[in-house]
Amino acid sequence: MSFTTIIYDTDAYWKVLRMRELVLRLPLGLRYSAEDIIKEESESIFAFSRDNQIAASCQFVLFGHTAKMRQVATSWVFQGQGIGRDLYLYCEDQLKKQGITEIYCHARKIAVPFYQKLKFDIISDEFEEVGIPHVKMKKRIM
Ligand SMILES: CC(C)(COP(=O)(O)OP(=O)(O)OC[C@H]1O[C@@H](n2cnc3c(N)ncnc32)[C@H](O)[C@@H]1OP(=O)(O)O)[C@@H](O)C(=O)NCCC(=O)NCCS
Repeated sequence: MSFTTIIYDTDAYWKVLRMRELVLRLPLGLRYSAEDIIKEESESIFAFSRDNQIAASCQFVLFGHTAKMRQVATSWVFQGQGIGRDLYLYCEDQLKKQGITEIYCHARKIAVPFYQKLKFDIISDEFEEVGIPHVKMKKRIM
């Protein structure tokens, strides 16, 4: 059981991408494009592994003291066990150490209660991304 920083284009990266595709894209009838994948090279990617499997992952685009969190996913078999929360709290701690003071995300409406439990606030009206409703949410971490 461990938290890991994932290096782009390693075996671990491709395992994380596969897990995310199963959780975030395939249920919507979508896949990652080559363009989506290339953009991830500059992102900070974190994962939580259990029983030698990628249980959860999330990633961040950093802009000065702000981080945009994206691609938050817990593998289907590991959902509802506190892993998404534990991974987020680990990442928040890592980002604070790097001087990040605010995290925001585009949250799927269905996942809003998860982010509210992590103390994110809704700061936008509803909008659509990947064909489903989202809202922008934000949390100050310092
Ligand atoms: C949303 C998601 C990342 C949550 O991860 P998880 O590991 O299942 O969540 P946790 O078990 O850590 O949950 C932490 C808390 O949030 C609550 N929670 C999690 N998902 C929730 C949901 N969709 N609706 C309501 N509450 C939710 C849990 O009940 C738990 O509450 P508690 O502290 O009172 O026990 C995960 O369910 C997932 O990958 N879902 C599909 C993809 C998705 O929607 N990702 C978000 C994209 S914005």
